[in-house]
Amino acid sequence: MVKVEGLRKKFLGQHGAVKAVDGISFEVAEGGFFTLLGPSGCGKSTTLRCIAGLEKPEDGEISVSGRPVYSKNKRIAVPPHKRNMGMVFQSYAIWPHMTVFENVAYPLRVAKKFSGKEIKEKVEKALELVKLTGLESRPAPYLSGGQQQRLALARALVREPKVLLLDEPLSNLDAKLREHMRLELRELQRRIRVTTIYVTHDQMEALALSNVIAVMQDGQIVQVAAPREMYEKPNSKFVADFFGSTNFVEGKLTEQSGGQATVETKHGILRCPVPEGLVGDNILVSVRPENIDVLRDPGSADNVFAATVEASAFLGEFMDCRMDVGGTELRVRVHPSLGLRRGESVYLRFPPESCMVVAQ
Ligand SMILES: Nc1ncnc2c1ncn2[C@@H]1O[C@H](COP(=O)(O)OP(=O)(O)O)[C@@H](O)[C@H]1O
Ligand SMILES: [Mg+2]
Repeated sequence: MVKVEGLRKKFLGQHGAVKAVDGISFEVAEGGFFTLLGPSGCGKSTTLRCIAGLEKPEDGEISVSGRPVYSKNKRIAVPPHKRNMGMVFQSYAIWPHMTVFENVAYPLRVAKKFSGKEIKEKVEKALELVKLTGLESRPAPYLSGGQQQRLALARALVREPKVLLLDEPLSNLDAKLREHMRLELRELQRRIRVTTIYVTHDQMEALALSNVIAVMQDGQIVQVAAPREMYEKPNSKFVADFFGSTNFVEGKLTEQSGGQATVETKHGILRCPVPEGLVGDNILVSVRPENIDVLRDPGSADNVFAATVEASAFLGEFMDCRMDVGGTELRVRVHPSLGLRRGESVYLRFPPESCMVVAQ
């Protein structure tokens, strides 16, 4: 549905040129929810603004349903209002001097091709989608944060765009409302099936909303995957680290066959699956805190290391523990019923299926 190929955009700053978008390519399926995720400054907004036509790239091609809206080679640059896209920014940019109705009607009035009756029908429909029916005549500033956010969404949807572009639309809301709106947005997008490209730096948002996530770093896409695959099979230290907390243990690949590896670490041998195409013998094994088993008896199982409980904090559903394994600090989440005490000697088991090998 949306195809981006070899997109590049740089800006001239005080310290020379910044490659904000450095040759990225991706495709978004029709009706899909695609998220660009990455830390601040990695080029997410610039990518989205290029798609919307608000920035002019130096190179690449952007097409919608097979038709280029931008192409360097074909010298095509369709103006933003003719791209059939709706956009919501972080600052909702709703107009404070207008009512709810007029805010949503505005894009239709500018288009100059709808009758008063059509405008009324379309605005009512958009307001109904975002559950703002009944608030038509209220001045926009008299809405709550969540309602203003929904209003911005209604305005983006009123012309029934082919593509919806959302740039951190929830980040101005408080935590509780953000979570609520996240669910609402997901439900709305699934209902109307509008192809959506979403930008966020929040990995939980990306996991909760997306069909596909693209992780960006320094203007490039480093991994594209479905949420679960991204979480369970990150292809780099950067991605593993970005998706929630994880532990890294340094090691050396000593044996490798049929997707299984033997890793020599300074604490002992680890056996775990290894992804194809990994280069180099010096690697990191990443294990998430919730996946490490804490044992009082080492048994004879593989992948078991002796450890000492350094500190633990009760966080309701789990204990967040800091463990010392031969001088390396690991974070482990355990069930409170285990009753771990500080200074206690325990054994940590790294289940092979929860070990992820990434390049160092
Ligand atoms: N209009 C601009 N002028 C100069 N530099 C810019 C401009 N817009 C963005 N940049 C720079 O481009 C890089 C990417 O920015 P941006 O796309 O906004 O990142 P993100 O949305 O991921 O936080 C940053 O280094 C930013 O400072
Ligand atoms: Mg941004």
